[in-house]
Amino acid sequence: MDRPTDPSTHSEGNGSSSGLREERVRALQEMYDAGTPIFKKADLWYIGDQIDDIQARPLDEVAGRFIIMPAMNRLNVVDEVMTGRVTNPDVSPDVEEVYTYPSVYYYSFDVRVANYEYGPADRFLFSPGEFSYGPVKRNKHTKELIPPTPDIPAEKVREDLKAAIQRWGPSEHGKAVRQILTSVITPSLAAKKVVAFALGSMATKGFVGNAANNYQHALLLLVQECLAAATANYDDRKPGCFAQDPAYLAEDKTVLHEAGITVLQDPRGFVEVDDEAVVISIAPDVPVKQIIADIARPAIIIWDRNSLQDYDAPWEFADPESSRVKNMLANEYTEVDFPHHEHLDGLVIYVRKPRPENGAHARIAGSPLLAA
Ligand SMILES: C[S@@+](CC[C@H](N)C(=O)[O-])C[C@H]1O[C@@H](n2cnc3c(N)ncnc32)[C@H](O)[C@@H]1O
Repeated sequence: MDRPTDPSTHSEGNGSSSGLREERVRALQEMYDAGTPIFKKADLWYIGDQIDDIQARPLDEVAGRFIIMPAMNRLNVVDEVMTGRVTNPDVSPDVEEVYTYPSVYYYSFDVRVANYEYGPADRFLFSPGEFSYGPVKRNKHTKELIPPTPDIPAEKVREDLKAAIQRWGPSEHGKAVRQILTSVITPSLAAKKVVAFALGSMATKGFVGNAANNYQHALLLLVQECLAAATANYDDRKPGCFAQDPAYLAEDKTVLHEAGITVLQDPRGFVEVDDEAVVISIAPDVPVKQIIADIARPAIIIWDRNSLQDYDAPWEFADPESSRVKNMLANEYTEVDFPHHEHLDGLVIYVRKPRPENGAHARIAGSPLLAA
């Protein structure tokens, strides 16, 4: 995800030492301590609607329009849309680079309150994030966009995903994960869909290849399968299966669609998360844990075990566990180990504890794994 491109954002150093910044951070801390969510579904929905509206128009038509970033203190920020601005006029004689449509660059609570150079500008301190604009290439003369070239063509992405499913599913590890999922997906949880974040592009090799991304999508499909089995006797609809990652290329989207996975554009994935969801999130570049803790209590969560030990400070980590996340997990969830695998490493499963109002039902339908 590209860093925000608003020129006012970082020019004066977002962590200004001015008394004003300190005062704002103090106000933010107070609101946070009082339980005010930074991330609200209605706000994310509103952001999604505005992005959809801008995307429905040609790039050049939206330059100079305004877009609103909501804020938890209700001082919403009005921002100029930078879509369509030429950032490199001479990539080649026929090609230029322009800013594409807006997306959101989210900030964790930790980054907001630390006097950190990559924190939000003052005016976005109370908002879910800032609008950000990645560059996209286009033909200078026809203005036609040039889609990024995948490292791996769609046929091979399809083959790789199929191979990962066929290799991993029947393996000892795959069987163990299936058994755990079958045990924890109890009727009392009423889980009906799975929503995944940041499973990565399978058409892009990156630094470490795409093997992990294939396995992570195989896990997503396995969760859907286990949900389907758990709900089969009273619901013959296939449980919803959603994935959000801005890194998906057209090739990923084609293969994911064929596999029955609905790709959602950020922030629609977050909007889809509710108490009936199983959430999967693996090594996201964004504070998924903090967003989820503010917007819902998913039935099951599969994400990275807190790995802050690898960082000097929490604000250097994209997805840190704030006190709010820690409290949610400790008080409302039961932790279940996710067995180690080369490509599915460092994960943990959280299963929502029975709630008082459906406790009796939950006890009857409870899982032996969660009995302790
Ligand atoms: C470090 S990579 C991890 C990818 C993959 N899970 C893996 O283990 O290799 C971080 C991922 O977060 C994704 N990401 C960034 N912003 C996101 C957003 N708003 N929603 C979902 N995923 C996002 C990136 O596109 C990227 O694929």
